[in-house]
Amino acid sequence: MSFRRQKRFFYLLIIGTAFLFLIYITGYTPVLFGSDPHVKRPHIRFEDVADQIDHRKPRIMINWIGRMGNHLFEYACLLGIAKWNNMTPIISPTVDILDVFNLPAPQGSLSLLRDPINYFYPVAAKFDNATMHLQQRDYYLTGYRQSWKYFEHVKEDLLNNHFVFHEPILATAMSYINAARKEKNKPDAVIVGVHVRRGDFVRQRIKGFTVAPIPFYFKTMNYFRRKYPNVLFIICTNDYFWALDNLDHGPDVFYSTNTDGAVDLAIMANCDHMIITSGTYSWWAGYLVRGEVIYYKGYPEPNTIIGNQTVREDYYPPNWIGM
Ligand SMILES: *[C@@H]1O[C@H](CO)[C@@H](O)[C@H](O)[C@H]1NC(C)=O
Ligand SMILES: *[C@@H]1O[C@H](CO)[C@@H](O)[C@H](O)[C@H]1NC(C)=O
Repeated sequence: MSFRRQKRFFYLLIIGTAFLFLIYITGYTPVLFGSDPHVKRPHIRFEDVADQIDHRKPRIMINWIGRMGNHLFEYACLLGIAKWNNMTPIISPTVDILDVFNLPAPQGSLSLLRDPINYFYPVAAKFDNATMHLQQRDYYLTGYRQSWKYFEHVKEDLLNNHFVFHEPILATAMSYINAARKEKNKPDAVIVGVHVRRGDFVRQRIKGFTVAPIPFYFKTMNYFRRKYPNVLFIICTNDYFWALDNLDHGPDVFYSTNTDGAVDLAIMANCDHMIITSGTYSWWAGYLVRGEVIYYKGYPEPNTIIGNQTVREDYYPPNWIGM
């Protein structure tokens, strides 16, 4: 190796190390999604559909904070609250979940709101029942809202008409599931998705972001094994090597090597049942599935920042089973 090449290699090493260190200290997990160039983002501009909208109805918008799991909550809350109050929901044209789902809501900027009420709610996972009866005014919702109670009344509409994966994402996900069936020689198995959420949560325990311990996975997978003798587990995770090193390697376990957050969500949404762990992304993997959902009841940890913002009955739907 020439001196110049050595030097270049050395610089790359330093930059790479600095980058990894930055990821570590900021607790940032790179989750890639929407990277498929074949995905066509819907562009339903408010102006283009204005003649189909009753402009006497109040309009409602929401702030898009957090990441993919939060954005799904924000979209669902917007829809549910709009429905209760007979309002027109409008979303931001830049929100990232448009790269994942074929969302039919009209898109526009905040300037579409006419003298709106800025409605902030401070407790993330505690249902705010005042949203069922808002004033007949335009609204801008801020703060985190993470409860199934905001949108249970529009669930079927959400699942059938809104959270519809873009075709290329769905196709990739289905080919993963079929590859898993083939590799494990289980063409007719009941498919149970297992979402292993770790990454940044491992370092944010102090805030209440607990991660599920190893026995949780064995217990919940055995629960499904007893229920369905012909079962196939698909493990989706943001910490592949931890999962590989620590979890079960039975003939009925398949580890997804996919790293695209959108495709992973589509894989899990197309499983028959789900085992979910911590965080809103995991929560949505459960909500999008039609079957049974088992969650890690140690999340979030009580008496922490996140724990204090969580009313368990508001966060976890009553038909989900905590273990
Ligand atoms: C909202 O919650 C409050 C306090 O928990 C309760 O008193 C009230 O009846 C509820 N209102 C509705 C419309 O459910
Ligand atoms: C959580 O709430 C409890 C009871 O209100 C309080 O004593 C505690 O300090 C809070 N913890 C945090 C981290 O906010």
